[in-house]
Amino acid sequence: MDEQITNYLLALLPEKDNWIVDLEEQAQKDRVPIMDSIGMDFIMQLIRMNKPSEILEIGTGIGYSALRMLEASPESTITTIEKDEKRYNQAKANLKKYDNRKKVTLVQGDALSIMTNMAEHEGKFDCIFIDAAKGQYEKYFDLADSLLINNGFIIADNVLFRGYVADYDFEHRRYKSIVNRLREYNKRVTNHSSYHTSIVPVGDGVAISFKSSERSHTNEK
Ligand SMILES: C[S@@+](CC[C@H](N)C(=O)[O-])C[C@H]1O[C@@H](n2cnc3c(N)ncnc32)[C@H](O)[C@@H]1O
Repeated sequence: MDEQITNYLLALLPEKDNWIVDLEEQAQKDRVPIMDSIGMDFIMQLIRMNKPSEILEIGTGIGYSALRMLEASPESTITTIEKDEKRYNQAKANLKKYDNRKKVTLVQGDALSIMTNMAEHEGKFDCIFIDAAKGQYEKYFDLADSLLINNGFIIADNVLFRGYVADYDFEHRRYKSIVNRLREYNKRVTNHSSYHTSIVPVGDGVAISFKSSERSHTNEK
C-alpha cells in the first residue's frame, strides 16, 4: 500500500490496549513476523462481522493474531498450529497470560501433518486463517478445504508479498520460488469452482476465499 495512505490509516486506528503493545514489542524484540496493524484490523473486521464459531489458524507465531481475532469475536473458539518450538513456548506463555477464558487451543507441530490427521474435524471450522510458510499455501489450502464447512471462508495473508507477486518485470532471484508459488495460489483460488475469492491489497495482501457449493464460474484447472 502507498506509504501516505498507510500512515493515514495507521493514524485512524484506535489506541492499542497494553496487552497488544506488549505482544507487538515482544515480536519486534524477537524478530517474529506478525500481522501488520492495518491487515490485522481488516481481518478482525471480517471476523467481527462473521463471528465464526470455530477458527483454525495455521502459523501462531507468538499468539498475536489468535488473540486479536478473539478480541474481535470473543465467543469464537480458536485452534492454532505452530511448528517452531521456541515460538510455540512463547505463544503458550502469552495465551496463559491473555486468554483468560481458555478459548484458544495451541497445537505444536507441522500444520501439514497435523491437518492431514484431523479427519475427525472434517467440516468443523467456519474460518481458516493461513499465515505460515508462503511456499506451502496451496498445500494448506487443500487440507483446509476438507476441514471447512460450506459457507465458511479461508483467509490467507501475504499473498502479494511486498508487491513482488504483481511485478513481472523485476527479477526476484532470492524470492523467485515463493513469488511463483504465491502466484499459483492466487490463480488457483480465484478460479476454484467451489470458492469466491477476493484479493485485497491491504497490508501484505490478503486473499479471502468464500466456500460456496453454488459457485457457478468454473475456470478451475
Ligand atoms: C508470520 S508468522 C505467524 C504470525 C501470526 N499469525 C501473527 O500474525 O501473530 C508464521 C509462523 O508460521 C510458522 N510456520 C511455518 N510453517 C509452518 C507449518 N508448516 N506448520 C506450522 N507452523 C508453521 C512459523 O514458525 C511462524 O511462527
